[in-house]
Amino acid sequence: MSRGYRVGVIPGDGTGPEVVREGLKVLEAVREGFDVELVAFDLGAERYLRTGEVLPDEDLETMRGLDAIFLGAVGDPRVRPGILERELLLRIRFELDQYVNLRPVVRYPGVRTLVPSHAEGDVNFVVVRENSEGLYTGAGGFHRKGTPHEVAVQESINTRRGVERIVRYAFELARAPGRRGKVTLVHKTNVLTFAGDLYQRVVDEVAREYPAVETDYVHVDAACIYFLDQPSRFDVIVTDNMFGDIITDLGAMIQGGMGIAAGGNINPEGVSMFEPIGGTAPDHTGKDTINPLAAIGAMGMLLEEIGERAAASRVDAGIRFACSKLHSMRAGEMGYTTSEVGDLVVEGATAS
Ligand code: IPM
Ligand code: MN
Repeated sequence: MSRGYRVGVIPGDGTGPEVVREGLKVLEAVREGFDVELVAFDLGAERYLRTGEVLPDEDLETMRGLDAIFLGAVGDPRVRPGILERELLLRIRFELDQYVNLRPVVRYPGVRTLVPSHAEGDVNFVVVRENSEGLYTGAGGFHRKGTPHEVAVQESINTRRGVERIVRYAFELARAPGRRGKVTLVHKTNVLTFAGDLYQRVVDEVAREYPAVETDYVHVDAACIYFLDQPSRFDVIVTDNMFGDIITDLGAMIQGGMGIAAGGNINPEGVSMFEPIGGTAPDHTGKDTINPLAAIGAMGMLLEEIGERAAASRVDAGIRFACSKLHSMRAGEMGYTTSEVGDLVVEGATAS
């Protein structure tokens, strides 16, 4: 009997549906020896504007029974900032306890990036971003809002359990095949003397259990310099939620742009969700000009996570092939339409 998976699909807003379409096209092309049942979710700005609902509890319950989720993008200029982000995207991450935000930063051959030519070595690392706490919990509040004496407090919550599980994930990853056995903590321990101290102590403790893994520490601001100047010093970076959000946008730029940056929101014991990290790109919506490689890469990560390694490596081969053809990773400058880029990936994935 062939293996079967149930995969949720949230096309979402903006260019989300266009890139999801290409991701599913590639899935169909590389699928061999297993079946996938797609479970579509009508979630995002349209649903919210139509019905006022952001994420009904029934949808969340359905998600709990899936093998994985494939997400396009959420966000819309017509919806007040924070509603879709917090109540849809972050709610799924939190409720499904997807505590790892895994963001590979890899430059494929031939891709032009922000990295200057004098930089040492190549770009091939992965950011393990804590995805369940830190500044993202929504802890804090206003006092005397709207008055001249207004106070806004936004607290960073860091639990021993939360820090330990993300640090352990990073150490395990560092010794996985293809990695170079190095974990770098990125934080701001010289100023954030509580949260940073907890992270550093946990890294030191866990490191004792992994004598073969080298550990390093870099302040987050310095990490931004090294991303451009010496990217090869990184193998696995572990960092908190907010720093991870920020440095992975720079990470995207050193791998060629938001058009190629994929990520996974992972619960190693539960349901994980994969997405291109670039957002909704309203200027490109509906034009067949957006780069689908990030979404296709997210599909590759999804296949890897559910254990379909052969299919995942076909996706990777397809992306490499497409990268060798595209003029640029930027939307509208690729030299191909969105669907043609999907076709290139299929061609590269199925050649041999
Ligand atoms: C990301 C996004 C989200 C985040 C937003 C949309 C809430 O920027 O996935 O990086 O900050 O995590
Ligand atoms: Mn972000």
